[in-house]
Amino acid sequence: MKIGIIGLGFVGLSFAVVLGSKGYQVIGIDKNKHHLDLLQQGKSSFFEKDLEKLLKIGIKNKTKFSSSFSELKTCDLIFVTVGTPQRDNGSIDLSMIENVSKKIGNLIKNASKKPIIVIKSTVTPGTAEKVKKIIEKSSGKKNKLGFDLISNPEFLRESQAIKDTIKPHIVVIGGENKNAKKKISQFYKKLHDNVPIIDTNSQTAEMIKYANNSFLATKISYINQIAKICENVPGVNIEDISKSIGADPRIGNSFLNAGPGYGGSCLPKDVKAMIHFSNKLGINPLLLDSVEKINREQIQHVINSSKKLCGTLKSKKIAILGLSFKPNTADIRDSISLDIIKKLVKQNAYVAVHDPKAIENVKKIFKEKIQYCSTVSQVLDGSDLAIIMTAWAEYKKIDNSKLKLMKKPVIVDTRRILDSNKLKCKYFGIGFGN
Ligand code: UGA
Repeated sequence: MKIGIIGLGFVGLSFAVVLGSKGYQVIGIDKNKHHLDLLQQGKSSFFEKDLEKLLKIGIKNKTKFSSSFSELKTCDLIFVTVGTPQRDNGSIDLSMIENVSKKIGNLIKNASKKPIIVIKSTVTPGTAEKVKKIIEKSSGKKNKLGFDLISNPEFLRESQAIKDTIKPHIVVIGGENKNAKKKISQFYKKLHDNVPIIDTNSQTAEMIKYANNSFLATKISYINQIAKICENVPGVNIEDISKSIGADPRIGNSFLNAGPGYGGSCLPKDVKAMIHFSNKLGINPLLLDSVEKINREQIQHVINSSKKLCGTLKSKKIAILGLSFKPNTADIRDSISLDIIKKLVKQNAYVAVHDPKAIENVKKIFKEKIQYCSTVSQVLDGSDLAIIMTAWAEYKKIDNSKLKLMKKPVIVDTRRILDSNKLKCKYFGIGFGN
């Protein structure tokens, strides 16, 4: 079985290397020549644990990377994993999906194979129907006769992309053609042991992905709302609250870590796309609007909490610890750290930043406006305030000897990774009442 994968970002590349390492015949397609050159050499242009290790095994097993769609002509399965970014008004930009669909149509026009095209990208309900029409028009072939179309959303998390690709918690297969769904179901059953499979139609599959990400965002905004209330009740501790309510099996313990708000390339974009989609249908998305609003307000809350501890931020040296939207990735897309830095720079604070992986990405944005530090000691040195934004393991080791480097040891800990009882400093942790 020959498998094509179009779009080699976190989802597409993780899938390609996992399949390649297991001996599947894989051809990965991307338009970014630099990315492709690196991949041929067994290197990735972004960091993800174990990715390069599996990539090298895949290359030995003859995984190929190319920018040419013609390579897909002999594929049995073609997975589409291109990006679906956000437009300025919050709606989803499906132009990459549409372009790729047209190209797939042109490709299969004269092909003897009847491929199954599998949409893995996050797309709003109704997109498969649009894709079907585009492919039918450009190929001159009918769905179910000349090709098949399946909606198969992806649930992997960045920083655990390989682990999640090897063992997903669920596989959702949506489509019209029972035979095609059966083939994809067999493909996944062979790939993963005992994976639960949901067999549904395309529009439900598409909606599942948004419902899933919107619910995760809702849990985070919920706990951030509770955390804010807690901060105004002396002695209340959000950690014990999250642990306790998370132990209720009806609630579940994940995504209850209060923090500076959710970031990354998925949750913020998907909640906004769902809000836009819902409004278009005439349904007022009251809850999702609040989820989004709470998330936005959390940024100002970090700034206000900083001011409470150290007064005006103007001309103060402020150390930002953590730039990536979560630990173990260099990804800074929609990272809350960037919003905080923008606000601090605007208030004429002197900002110094540290991150174990994301510094180079941040340099491209802020250039000479802020100071870049390669060690925790360097970023803390002479600072008036340190704001911990990302829960990188090395920040958990900050102790009094490090705090002595600061002008005044004042900490805003948005992830509550430090034990304030052991530290000689003014301390504010999100969700701790004082
Ligand atoms: C998210 C989903 O978790 C994946 O299931 C989904 O496949 C992916 O989006 C996607 O749509 O592609 P990801 O963006 O990698 O994955 O990141 P998450 O682990 O969900 O974290 C998102 C943000 O929420 C981070 O900024 C994180 O710090 C924050 N978060 C998460 C909290 O503030 N508290 C929590 O308890 C959990």
